[in-house]
Amino acid sequence: MFWMQYAFASKFMPTAATDQASQVNNLYSFLLISSFIACVILIGGMIYFAYKYKRQSLTAKSAYITHNTFLEFLWSFIPLVIFLVVFGWGWHIYHQMRQFPKDALEIHVTGKQWAWEATYKSGVRTANLVKVPIDTDVKIILASNDVIHSFYVPSFRIKQDAVPGRYTAVWFNANKLGDFHIFCTEYCGTQHSGMIGKLQVVSREEYDKWLEEEAKFSTLPIAQKGEKLFQIKACSGCHSVADASVKVGPSLFKKFGAKEELTSGDSTGVDENYLRESILNPNAKIVKGFASGVMPSFQGQLSEDELSAIIE
Ligand code: CUA
Repeated sequence: MFWMQYAFASKFMPTAATDQASQVNNLYSFLLISSFIACVILIGGMIYFAYKYKRQSLTAKSAYITHNTFLEFLWSFIPLVIFLVVFGWGWHIYHQMRQFPKDALEIHVTGKQWAWEATYKSGVRTANLVKVPIDTDVKIILASNDVIHSFYVPSFRIKQDAVPGRYTAVWFNANKLGDFHIFCTEYCGTQHSGMIGKLQVVSREEYDKWLEEEAKFSTLPIAQKGEKLFQIKACSGCHSVADASVKVGPSLFKKFGAKEELTSGDSTGVDENYLRESILNPNAKIVKGFASGVMPSFQGQLSEDELSAIIE
């Protein structure tokens, strides 16, 4: 419909990245505009009549009015028609949301305190990332490891509880490329607000390529996996590993098991826990000759598995 692009709600609602999201915008615009018109008529009418029919003097009497059948019919019938339109319209959209398309791409997503874990049919697993191809029906099958979570993608206008002990599902067909937020909308503990994932919509080719790479990656021995991550996460941009050359940060060549002098004047042994701390909280210990605050923290950007792989 021509006015779809001009739907009032699309001006201030999150990007609509599915057809259903646009439909929700349209219905929302209708509700908002009709409520606004009703509000103006009601409040405006009240003010106007209060002024027009105010008692002229202490002894004056206003006309004695009991009822008006035509007016009463009108103010009952018009809202009834509007409510039925809203009901039918809303039912139509909701019905679409609950009718799961056949042959949809299925992805299992499990909520746990406090992350979203996605598992693809091929066995590929990701943390806080759901990658999907554009213009494809995708069905998300939800489960929970512990308490109730809720899978919410504002740009798709979908929201569904992930309940322990049973499966629930949502589906969508994204029509815009890009990164969209996944929020948890069920209070699930202290880190509830940090349970944020990314829903990434990419082209079909990019998706297939990514899935293939990920499948290879997940079966690598962990030291090789770590080597790859060292490149992917750009650690290699600042730390040399093949020789003792100094880039932005200290070289890691033959460092493991050695002693490191710190700016504080202390020294520390380079072991797993020191490396872990330096990745997650880089400013805790600064190697002598280097500045504080240069390396960003990787807290929340690496899963436990990835962290172990890099250290390995
Ligand atoms: Cu999970 Cu809130």
